[in-house]
Amino acid sequence: MARPLLSFTLLCLLFLGLMSLSWMIWAWTAPDCTIGDSSLLPNISYYIPFCSLAPGLHLFASCSNVKDLAQTLTAVPQGIEALCLQGTVPFLPADAFGHFPTLQLLRLQLGTIRITSRTFQGLDQLRHLSFEHHAPCCLSLFLPPDALEPLRFLNTLSFHGYCLNYSQNIQLPISLRCLTLRHSCLTDLQELQGLFPNLVPGSSPTTRPSPWTSFLEVLDLSVNLQLSQVGSRALHGLQLRSLTLDGTPLSALDLLGSGLLHLDSLSLVATGAEKLPGNVSRYFELRALDLGRNQIQNLEDEYLLSCHSLELLSLHANGLQSLPSRFLSALPQLQRLNLSMNKLGPTLVLPGGLVSSNLRVLDLSHNELSVLPYRAFSSLPQLQELWLSGNNISNLSSESLEGLRWLKTLDLSWNQIKVLKPGWLSSLPVLTSLNLLGTHLEHISGKQLQGPHKLSHLQLGSLEMLEIYPPWPPALLSLEVQANVYIQFGVPSGEPFLFLENLTLQTSNMLLHSDNNTVHFPSLRHLTLRGCSPYIFTDCQSQRFFPQLPLLEHLHFWSDHEGTEDLHLFGMPRLRVLELGDLDFLSQPSSVKLEKLLKELPQLQVLALSNLNLGNLSASSFRDLGLLQLLLLNSEWALGLDSSLQELIPQMPQYVYFSDITFTCQCESSWVGPWATRAPNTFVYGLEKSICRANASDYSQTPLLSFLSGHCSHDAEFQSFLTSFTLVLLLTFLALLGCPKWPWLHHLRTLFHAWWWKFCGRRPRRQFHYDVFISYCEQDQAWVLEKLVPALEKPLPAGEGLRLCLPERDFGVGQDRMDAMVASMESSRATLCVLSRQALGSHWCNLELRLATYHLVAKPGIARLLLLFLEPIDRRQLHSYHRLARWLQKEDYFDVSLERVEWDAFCEQLRKRLRKAGQERED
Ligand SMILES: *[C@@H]1O[C@H](CO)[C@@H](O)[C@H](O)[C@H]1NC(C)=O
Ligand SMILES: *[C@@H]1O[C@H](CO)[C@@H](O)[C@H](O)[C@H]1NC(C)=O
Ligand SMILES: *[C@@H]1O[C@H](CO)[C@@H](O)[C@H](O)[C@H]1NC(C)=O
Ligand SMILES: *[C@@H]1O[C@H](CO)[C@@H](O)[C@H](O)[C@H]1NC(C)=O
Ligand SMILES: *[C@@H]1O[C@H](CO)[C@@H](O)[C@H](O)[C@H]1NC(C)=O
Ligand SMILES: *[C@@H]1O[C@H](CO)[C@@H](O)[C@H](O)[C@H]1NC(C)=O
Ligand SMILES: *[C@@H]1O[C@H](CO)[C@@H](O)[C@H](O)[C@H]1NC(C)=O
Repeated sequence: MARPLLSFTLLCLLFLGLMSLSWMIWAWTAPDCTIGDSSLLPNISYYIPFCSLAPGLHLFASCSNVKDLAQTLTAVPQGIEALCLQGTVPFLPADAFGHFPTLQLLRLQLGTIRITSRTFQGLDQLRHLSFEHHAPCCLSLFLPPDALEPLRFLNTLSFHGYCLNYSQNIQLPISLRCLTLRHSCLTDLQELQGLFPNLVPGSSPTTRPSPWTSFLEVLDLSVNLQLSQVGSRALHGLQLRSLTLDGTPLSALDLLGSGLLHLDSLSLVATGAEKLPGNVSRYFELRALDLGRNQIQNLEDEYLLSCHSLELLSLHANGLQSLPSRFLSALPQLQRLNLSMNKLGPTLVLPGGLVSSNLRVLDLSHNELSVLPYRAFSSLPQLQELWLSGNNISNLSSESLEGLRWLKTLDLSWNQIKVLKPGWLSSLPVLTSLNLLGTHLEHISGKQLQGPHKLSHLQLGSLEMLEIYPPWPPALLSLEVQANVYIQFGVPSGEPFLFLENLTLQTSNMLLHSDNNTVHFPSLRHLTLRGCSPYIFTDCQSQRFFPQLPLLEHLHFWSDHEGTEDLHLFGMPRLRVLELGDLDFLSQPSSVKLEKLLKELPQLQVLALSNLNLGNLSASSFRDLGLLQLLLLNSEWALGLDSSLQELIPQMPQYVYFSDITFTCQCESSWVGPWATRAPNTFVYGLEKSICRANASDYSQTPLLSFLSGHCSHDAEFQSFLTSFTLVLLLTFLALLGCPKWPWLHHLRTLFHAWWWKFCGRRPRRQFHYDVFISYCEQDQAWVLEKLVPALEKPLPAGEGLRLCLPERDFGVGQDRMDAMVASMESSRATLCVLSRQALGSHWCNLELRLATYHLVAKPGIARLLLLFLEPIDRRQLHSYHRLARWLQKEDYFDVSLERVEWDAFCEQLRKRLRKAGQERED
């Protein structure tokens, strides 16, 4: 008895070794990197270092303090879309990012770097590349001429804080649309010719490559503090949409001799300009001109007339005191005018015009305006947006807003509004968005908002208190209400907000004045609460402000640190994202609280907990983490992670972030170190930086991980977990290989399936390397190689050319056959088992069949198994016949016995089946 037991133990140990080895490989905790998916939590940048992304990109890795690039990158998952690197890396070798073929954005903040011609090889999909260095200006950067050539789809290229004056002849990809050279040491625009010869082909026609076209659309040269010259024909032949020269000492007039052929939009913010650049505007027929933060205090007629083509003009922060009377008639095309932060008050005088103005957007915020005279906007009949924030307006009447028949957006926030006269909105029939934050109003009734029929976005705010009463605007989709002391909804008979999707409330106290005691939000999807007491989600059904939120998906709740006794989230069956902050959980046993809180949120995918005083977390704090993809713990003072949490490791979400956490120094948490570095398929962020405290008066700043490794017996907890877990795996595996009679094995199997699902279902979807993995035994090899393979692999156009995986041919030399088999089955659309009597007798072939069967059962609908019989075999002889019979369909069996096969028909049928399998897997 002793001997078999010993060998069993040895076997187990061996297996254990293998398992932990493979886990090391799967782990993707990357020290110094944050890996995240910004589509899960839009606010994620608030908590963790983030890579600012281009629209449409979500999956990112942001690494800081990078010193050894190769080492940092080994831990970054392959499928990321954006990569930001900060640190000091002197040299970027060839193929430095070849592991990330899907990369679309790359931001490098690596100090003085050397780049080779082949550094960016393989980045076929890269669209955005930037080199950044922040103060002191500037580092020099050498780019070999052909360094950017592999980037065939590059769209934006940006250098910030780098001097390129050692580089010459850099070939820009012609897909490039935007080029930025900010904070660089350009002194003359002409230097661009030497740097980027295919951007500006130079003045001499002979150096011009014959079919030269201008491809760049946007050129940003802001904050080049020495850029004061424009050599002749410096931008020769260029046709730009937009040129930005903010913060340069360049005189706009110099652009006239630059050879620039076309320009729509020119930005000259903070260039010290005192006059409108009329000639430039006239020369290019400019459509947009941004002159913010200059000293243009007078708009003289002669310059104004030269600007007749402008559609957008910004004179933000120029100290303007008035507009000339010919302003609007001189600019007949003008659609957007930004006059914010000037001195046009106290009485608004807008110039009239003989021609009717086309102006759609007018920004008059922060202009010290007090009085809006009668028919103040009558010269602007087309106006759609009017921004009047931060003025001193107290009196509003329909007369002053008369004539704004097309006005959609009106911003009156932060004025001195104390009353709203009935009917004041009556002259704005199509208003959809109204901002009344920062008023002195104390009561607002829906009657005061009558007039517009389609008011959908409403913001109301008062400094102290605000009571609001129905009738609610009938088309309301989004409502924000702020008041420091309290907000009261007076809802005499429970009038519902029928279509409201977004609600934001910021106040200390929410009051409800109602005979019915309920306010209904049947369509609410996003709810944001700031400062409210948890009482708003009271246990007491009859007093609940939100009795049911059937469609709610996002709840962001920052409270005011009162107790949490009453906090109970229910009636939100669709809640996906829960952000909770600033509550005091220690007033209650935390495990009880969290458990209760999460109990009725079956769809939760994102849980972000911030500053809750959570205390000690244990397995009982969390119920079911089944669907959770992101768990974030932020800003905690004495967090303990109890050893019982290990039970939840198999269910841990894909992303676990600890940000700004001080742990309790306790050996109960000793499992977290090994977990964070070896957790399969969970990305854990922030433990390396966390410190722990022994008690309230311990200010020693001990790093958590060094405490755990120094004071706690060597991850005994985690090892024992690993051991038991591996045993479960092993036994399950053995169970699958045979002995199906032990009933308890069934439970283990279920457990294992859950795990397997978690692994496979959550992994970033991968490409299939193969169409079919072919399993056969040695005795049938000749038939397979001579008949089957040629028939299936027949290349295009003769056949469809299936990609086959044959163990003998496609497994790497020295690769463990078992590992390779599992991996190949995973990366094949389907597995085809070639069966003969000999095969069924062979141990190895049987194992492959069982593995494929297991795969099929563990991932129903995803894995595909096809059986090909070489000779007539009673199917009940198959080992897992009953299971197979349950999972396979008639079309999954192929019979080529008796030499009566028609190859073409067979192959066609097989292909059809595989195509179907492929589609099912990609769904
Ligand atoms: C993001 O989170 C912080 C606190 O964690 C909060 O103050 C802020 O309002 C949130 N922003 C949004 C847009 O939800
Ligand atoms: C590059 O620019 C810097 C800063 O203007 C200057 O000090 C340096 O001499 C320049 N080098 C070359 C080769 O022009
Ligand atoms: C710019 O325009 C003014 C008149 O508006 C004219 O006197 C002046 O010569 C022009 N300058 C250039 C460089 O074209
Ligand atoms: C006006 O310009 C300021 C400063 O650039 C900007 O913040 C503001 O959004 C602009 N207003 C509009 C309506 O675009
Ligand atoms: C705002 O307007 C009131 C009169 O309505 C006036 O007394 C006050 O001085 C004005 N404040 C500023 C800063 O212009
Ligand atoms: C409260 O109002 C809702 C909707 O208006 C109605 O369905 C419900 O019966 C009312 N309840 C009470 C107690 O009046
Ligand atoms: C509601 O808020 C979300 C997230 O901030 C936003 O994407 C959506 O457009 C908003 N919906 C409405 C109707 O304002």
